[in-house]
Parts: sequence; structure tokens; C-alpha cells
Amino acid sequence: MLKLSSLAFVVLAFAFFLCFIMSTGDGSYNYFQFVQQWPPATCIRSTKPCSKQRSLPIFTIHGLWPSNYSNPKTPSNCNGSQFDAIKLSPRLRSKLKRSWPDVESGNDEGFWEGEWNKHGKCSEQTLNQMQYFERSHEMWIFHNITKILKNASIVPHPTKTWKYTDIVSAIKALTRTTPLLRCKRNPAQVKGQPQFQLLHEVVLCLEYKALKQIDCNRTAGCRNNVDIKFQ
Ligand SMILES: *[C@@H]1O[C@H](CO)[C@@H](O)[C@H](O)[C@H]1NC(C)=O
Ligand SMILES: *[C@@H]1O[C@H](CO)[C@@H](O)[C@H](O)[C@H]1NC(C)=O
Ligand SMILES: *[C@@H]1O[C@H](CO)[C@@H](O)[C@H](O)[C@H]1NC(C)=O
Ligand SMILES: *[C@@H]1O[C@H](CO)[C@@H](O)[C@H](O)[C@H]1NC(C)=O
Ligand SMILES: *[C@@H]1O[C@H](CO)[C@@H](O)[C@H](O)[C@H]1NC(C)=O
Repeated sequence: MLKLSSLAFVVLAFAFFLCFIMSTGDGSYNYFQFVQQWPPATCIRSTKPCSKQRSLPIFTIHGLWPSNYSNPKTPSNCNGSQFDAIKLSPRLRSKLKRSWPDVESGNDEGFWEGEWNKHGKCSEQTLNQMQYFERSHEMWIFHNITKILKNASIVPHPTKTWKYTDIVSAIKALTRTTPLLRCKRNPAQVKGQPQFQLLHEVVLCLEYKALKQIDCNRTAGCRNNVDIKFQ
């Protein structure tokens, strides 16, 4: 009798211990943000070499970020396997060179390493390193944001402006889920002139397993009621 109850105690204690580890450990996220950037906007005010040249005129991957509903900036820098270049096949590597270049410094592998170590490790239980990069590349191919916007006549223009909802609607029409737009402040705002902001990133949201797309919540991103330029 005594033995049985002490065994039960040990089992219970172990269960609590596991719960404790799981609740305080890493990889606590609810959904993914798949973030694509518009390189010319990335390069504005960048201190890196890209600001000196006209950069790539297509949306490219910034990252796939496991995120928390209550704080979209977390988790990050979780415990997990460090980036290992060996785990990227030459084939995957050449795909990522197109979809996920380091537009600021040209150090592609350094960029991938940084994104995996900061974000990817936090969802390693769902996507291992190879799956993390494969899945991101697939998403980039599957939803060509450059093409979607072009088809809706949203193309780079020096003076034209759009409303937040114009751009969201164009993307939603094809992806069938609500994206989140991130903007940069206008670097050349003139006092007294109408304010505007620059389209910088388009975020698509995916559920926990990164298989299905879901609506993004407008938690952050472009400012409300300020027109958007795309250039
Ligand atoms: C999300 O963040 C909140 C607040 O920091 C935390 O209490 C919660 O456990 C997190 N959710 C997940 C699934 O990690
Ligand atoms: C990672 O693990 C180390 C040691 O196991 C611990 O000290 C650290 O707090 C952990 N970091 C995170 C973000 O959980
Ligand atoms: C995405 O669309 C743009 C504009 O139509 C096109 O130039 C580009 O090749 C497309 N990218 C892929 C991977 O299909
Ligand atoms: C282009 O736009 C038309 C209507 O505006 C829409 O029916 C079509 O699905 C779009 N195609 C792509 C590839 O964006
Ligand atoms: C958006 O917010 C609702 C309500 O708080 C929540 O149920 C939903 O999961 C959130 N979705 C995302 C992608 O953050």
C-alpha cells in the first residue's frame, strides 16, 4: 500500500515536473508569421551596403516567425539546435539564394543563420531546420506577392498612394486570408505636407503546424489612417 502510494507520488511529481518544463521551456508559440520584405524599402536608412544601390524589385523572405497571440514579438532566441549549414542541401541552398537573399549585406548564409537561431529554434518541435527553410521557400513560390500586387495594379510608383485596405484586399482576394502589412516611416516627410508611409513587409499567418494559412490580426504594422506609398 505504502509502495503504491509512493509510486503514485513519484509519477505525479514527474508529471508536474514535465508540466513545469513545458511551461517555462522554449517553443511556446501559437502561430507563425511568414514575413516577406520589399528590398528597396528595407534598404532605406539601412547602414548596410544595400542602401547604396538599387536593390531587388521583388518581395523576398525576411523570415518565418513562431509567434504568440498576446505578444507577436515573442518567442525568440530559444534553446534548440544552432544553425548547421550542412543541413541545407545544395539544391535547397540554391533555392534560398533566390527566395531568401540577404538584401542588406549579401551574406545570405549569415542571414539564414540569424533567422534560424533567433526564430526557427523556437518551433523546432514542429519544423526541423530543413523543414523550416523548405516550408518558407514553398510559401514564397506559392503566394507570389509581387505578382499578386502587380495584378491589382499595385506597382512601385513615385507619387501614387494607397489605403491600407486596398493592398490588404488585393492580397486577400488570392490568399483568402487577411495579411498584415508593415510599413516604414517616410524618410522625407515635409512639415505641412500630407503624411504617408512606405510599404515594407507583407505578413501571412499560418497555424501552429505551419500547414494552413489563417487570418493575421492587426496587432502592429502600418499606421492607421496614413496613406501608403509603394516605391
Ligand atoms: C504567450 O505569452 C504570454 C505572455 O507572455 C504567456 O503567458 C503565454 O504562456 C504565451 N503563450 C504561449 C503559447 O507560449
Ligand atoms: C536555455 O538553457 C539554459 C541552460 O539549460 C538556461 O540557463 C537558459 O535560461 C535557457 N534559455 C531560454 C531562453 O530558455
Ligand atoms: C513572381 O512574380 C514576378 C512578377 O510577375 C515575377 O517577375 C517573378 O518571376 C515571380 N517569381 C516566381 C518565383 O515565380
Ligand atoms: C488577377 O486579377 C484578377 C481580377 O482582378 C483575378 O481574377 C485573378 O485571379 C488575379 N490573378 C493573379 C494571379 O493574381
Ligand atoms: C487573433 O485574435 C483572436 C482573438 O484574440 C484569436 O483568437 C486569434 O487566434 C488571433 N489570430 C492571430 C493569427 O493572432
